[in-house]
Amino acid sequence: MKKTVLFTFLAGFALLISACGSAEAETAEAAGNDDDSGIMGIVSGMGGGMMARHHATIPDEFSGVSNPIAADDASIARGAVIYTTNCATCHGDGGVGDGPAGVNLDPSPANIAHSSQQLGDDYLFWRITEGGAEEPFNSAMIAWGNILSEDQRWDVINYVQALGRGDVAPTESVGGETLDPELEAQKQADMLADAVEQGVLTQEEADTFAVVHADIDEHMADMGDHAMGSADDMMEVILSLLVSDGKITQEQSELFVKTHGLLDMSGLME
Ligand code: HEC
Repeated sequence: MKKTVLFTFLAGFALLISACGSAEAETAEAAGNDDDSGIMGIVSGMGGGMMARHHATIPDEFSGVSNPIAADDASIARGAVIYTTNCATCHGDGGVGDGPAGVNLDPSPANIAHSSQQLGDDYLFWRITEGGAEEPFNSAMIAWGNILSEDQRWDVINYVQALGRGDVAPTESVGGETLDPELEAQKQADMLADAVEQGVLTQEEADTFAVVHADIDEHMADMGDHAMGSADDMMEVILSLLVSDGKITQEQSELFVKTHGLLDMSGLME
């Protein structure tokens, strides 16, 4: 059942993604908060904004790969050493993207404590292996495929996921904040308040976004490390499961996708 949903969605998603490249010029219109602008218009208008990297298509050779190394204490301990040696300078001890070497980077280092909870093993493994030199990333993220073995890359993924879940405390090496769920929730509330104030969303849209987002987070936590694919894939799969479980209505699901797109393009969402 789950597989069918995933496959159906992925097929649809490939279509949406292929519409992205040519739709750049329509971004401004699509960003308008018209009720009739539709999901297609919004998704095809994605491209700018801080979340652009999460809309990237995972290359075939990585798509669907999952971590062959169990996230046991030994793997997490190996990952901690790899992380402290190679990643903390940019991503910070707690993985929230505030390492000393990342301060002047544009784009700045990602909050991987957070995104490792949202993104699939395949996305993470791809990004760690190939880094950020290519489009659409154009970033200082290093291609670790030439430096770390495959096993080391999976160990560090196990570690970052454990760090983001709060299962392990950060190693103290370069400093930086720890992912704090309350702080994240506060940031989201502030972001939604800004969006309403700036006319990006109506109050009703903001409220729906908050409710559905909380359901998604809860579902993600249940899924543990079985996450797969980019943030978009995950979002769609989970939304359809929430609808079929009767947790949210189809209407709420659609409104969520729409508001997500609007927030994305407004540049308000991290
Ligand atoms: C020189 C600084 C630097 C170092 C060192 C570095 N990164 Fe990154 N990393 C970045 C930047 C900048 C980004 C954001 C831009 C991008 O996605 O390419 C990023 C993005 C990522 C992403 C994508 C996250 C997302 O939300 O899309 C992952 C995963 C990641 N890094 C993991 C690692 C791991 C694991 C290590 C150590 C093995 C590491 N990084 C070391 C700079 C760095």
